[in-house]
Amino acid sequence: MKKLAELYSGKAKTVYTTDDPDRMIMEFRNDTSAFDGEKVEQLERKGLVNNYFNAFVMEKLAAAGIANHFEQRLSANESLVKRLTMLPVECVVRNLAAGSLCRRLGVAEGIDLSPPVFEFFLKNDALHDPMINDSHICTFGWASAAQVADMKTLTLQVNEILGALFADAGLLLVDYKLEFGDFHGTLMLGDEFSPDGCRLWDAKTRDKLDKDRFRQGLGGVVEAYEEVAGRLGIALP
Ligand code: TMP
Ligand code: ASP
Repeated sequence: MKKLAELYSGKAKTVYTTDDPDRMIMEFRNDTSAFDGEKVEQLERKGLVNNYFNAFVMEKLAAAGIANHFEQRLSANESLVKRLTMLPVECVVRNLAAGSLCRRLGVAEGIDLSPPVFEFFLKNDALHDPMINDSHICTFGWASAAQVADMKTLTLQVNEILGALFADAGLLLVDYKLEFGDFHGTLMLGDEFSPDGCRLWDAKTRDKLDKDRFRQGLGGVVEAYEEVAGRLGIALP
């Protein structure tokens, strides 16, 4: 599959068209950003680790019945994916309180959230990804009522699948963000799943092994991602 033109460059990935109008190539870059792109750094090997991590997770999800855009890893930093029409919403599930939930509601970090919390955010850096609800999504046409219902169901199914996968590796899946898109009338999981877009804590020590290490200046960011990959059995070059 040949890379043709650059289609879109985001904060951590660039996507390219291919000779197949239904496929694109997703390149995972070393750029690491936080606070809606305010803090950006290049972290050696981050693109490679996230590419392998995403391939592993997307294959597990597909095997468990979650349709997604991933097709195959092409190189250290690139994967072939289906070209979806993305919906401009982010779906977040939280099992333990962290991040913006603590800031917004004044709850202590680390408390158990049972049942898990589900939230929608609008994908818009200029507006700082504001929290939105089903009503906003339908009124402004960001997704249909059926897509809203399906995104919630699928995101919570992913929680069951990945919660168990990470638990087996001695990790707590604290929270995560998913993005969906349409592929010829079928809703599918798109974007990526990597420690850039989720929170993972060591189950015993509660050490942070995700992008909060970068956000909070804790250091050892890629080392933590590699630690998680190793525990999952992902072989990295
Ligand atoms: P939050 O606590 O900042 O709302 O984030 C919740 C989860 O969603 C966390 O795992 C990080 C992820 N996330 C992203 O990956 N990108 C984003 O733009 C936002 C707002 C959250
Ligand atoms: N991904 C967003 C950014 O780069 C938000 C975050 O992960 O903190 O700013």
